[in-house]
Amino acid sequence: MKVKGKEYRTVWIEGNEVKLIEQRLLPHEFGFFTARDHKDIAFAIKEMVVRGAGAIGATAAYGVVLATLEAKEHNYKNYISNAAKTIQSTRPTAQNIFTGTNYILDAINNLNDLEEIRKVAISMANEFADYDAFACKKIDEYGNRLIKDGFRIGTHCNAGWLAFVDWGSALSPIFLANRTGKKVFVYVDETRPRIQGSLTAWELANENVPYVIIADNATGYYMKKKEIDMVITGADRIAANGDVANKIGTYEKAVLAKENGVPFYVAAPTTTFDLETDSGELIPIEERHEDEMLFVHGTDENGNISKVRVYPKGSKVKNPAFDITPASYITGLITEKGIIKANREEIQKMFGV
Ligand code: MRU
Repeated sequence: MKVKGKEYRTVWIEGNEVKLIEQRLLPHEFGFFTARDHKDIAFAIKEMVVRGAGAIGATAAYGVVLATLEAKEHNYKNYISNAAKTIQSTRPTAQNIFTGTNYILDAINNLNDLEEIRKVAISMANEFADYDAFACKKIDEYGNRLIKDGFRIGTHCNAGWLAFVDWGSALSPIFLANRTGKKVFVYVDETRPRIQGSLTAWELANENVPYVIIADNATGYYMKKKEIDMVITGADRIAANGDVANKIGTYEKAVLAKENGVPFYVAAPTTTFDLETDSGELIPIEERHEDEMLFVHGTDENGNISKVRVYPKGSKVKNPAFDITPASYITGLITEKGIIKANREEIQKMFGV
């Protein structure tokens, strides 16, 4: 997507370095982070330099590439495999980290020449990143068919292009609807505690899509007033039965949507599906650091980014990053292969199994 007239992806490789958009600075500054080895990649994923299922999946794939470049002749198999484990251990919930790293590992598994392994790893990581961008671009076409002129759309967390390699999942149909002249308006959930709504707001502003930010607990109020016509969220993992793991608070939105007769769609590429996990309750939920709750980040009066405590010292915190929305609350899953019902039969049919 374009920022100040220049085309960017969230992650790409330049020689022996992986470049990322530094999401910890947004929405205040637009800058970059350079990863020089697989440990930098693990740091970037864990510390949310890069975030969102698709973006961390592609970044993880490039992390395995860096591991092949670091590896030495005498022990490269172990080195690469341990590096992949380090990357996979950064965040447990989003399926794309595993899809991305395994995509490279499977391709190099039977190769025995380190130079060839490096070449294949780079080409497969680029292929994986290209597929992520392609899939999100297809999602915009399918999702746009659901959006009527004048629709007011609710969304939670950030599932725009920053959360993928390009385009995004939940936001890409909205971008297309807006670009093709439909009148759309977005209700952006703030998404405490990490306030991913600020990334969504930044992306919508960048695409000239009108929006308003609402507190996470205001969604029901607006649904009841019939001011939200549909909801589209992203997903971090979709289980074999159609249950969806997504940012904490998604479950509440889905329940409220059902109660108020608002269609609730989840947009995700097939790389987010996990057919080996039978249902949502088996998906591991990441518990994040208490500081995400105890402090907020923003700019002060002088424009300097600062961190401010909002709770009394010594307060105890629970901070699950994701929750599970049961399939029965989901109107449909928007994928690059079309829109399907959130159930085992349709998912199996889509994967041809
Ligand atoms: O914890 P984050 O910021 O990495 O959260 C991931 C997300 O961006 C969302 O849960 C999103 O809605 C899924 S779509 C990539």
